[in-house]
Amino acid sequence: MNKSRTISQIIEPQTAIEGAGVRLLRSIAPKVSNLFDPFLLFDHFAFNDPLEGPLRGFPYHPHRGIETVTYMLEGSTHHRDSLGNQGLIGPGDVQWMSSGRGILHEEMPRRGESGNIYGFQLWVNLPSHLKMSAPRYQEVTASTIPTYEKDGVKIRIVAGTVDGVNGPVEDIAASPLYMDVQLAPDTLWLFPIPSGHTALAYVFDGEGVFSGETVNAIRLLKFSDGDHISVKTENDTVRFMLIAGAPFKEPIVPYGPFVMNTLEEIQETLKELRNGTFIK
Ligand code: FE2
Repeated sequence: MNKSRTISQIIEPQTAIEGAGVRLLRSIAPKVSNLFDPFLLFDHFAFNDPLEGPLRGFPYHPHRGIETVTYMLEGSTHHRDSLGNQGLIGPGDVQWMSSGRGILHEEMPRRGESGNIYGFQLWVNLPSHLKMSAPRYQEVTASTIPTYEKDGVKIRIVAGTVDGVNGPVEDIAASPLYMDVQLAPDTLWLFPIPSGHTALAYVFDGEGVFSGETVNAIRLLKFSDGDHISVKTENDTVRFMLIAGAPFKEPIVPYGPFVMNTLEEIQETLKELRNGTFIK
């Protein structure tokens, strides 16, 4: 490890309203500029106000050309889809859904015992040769996600490897790393991320020094290129999602829940939805 990544961008999440009126914090959203390639979107669900009234979620909607990764920390999300799958993504669980050529699904958050709902949804792009592949899921329950603990660092590894410990999510085109990292006070952590890969950190609790810059929650950080990141804490703890992956370097055309490579592919998608041939 000889080239430390610096912070190239600090993003303050913005409140967005999605689905049937769900209020969430959005840091990045799909854009033609594709600045976070292969990552497209990062949303943070954080409901804790009982005055918000009945829970609204994301009623049936389609996806094509992407992967959605849902990670719940509190509360749960009930999902069902056009393939006949349904289930509950509970606290600590992950659902890695590859939409491929098409899926219709519903995602409905439910409060946990505390009354809170807290979780994240990441969208990862698919390379052009997999955009029309068969949809598939990797459902990972909390108990099957390994926790690595050493010298003040605690990591839940969803995808990627830490000191030989592998996350359960596999065979994803972007070779992603997705982990929930917590540092105790007065801890230094250096972690290798391959050069050329896009690297992001979503700092959602506490305060840490990332590549020499003090960052308070809640912020999304984008790192410059290099072969490792450095994070340290002083008096506080810090907790963040570390996200990294290989960019596809292909043009993208996003349209709502679809991300394709050309406008013609988006037009074809909309035509299939209209004439009822979207789900094959
Ligand atoms: Fe969805």
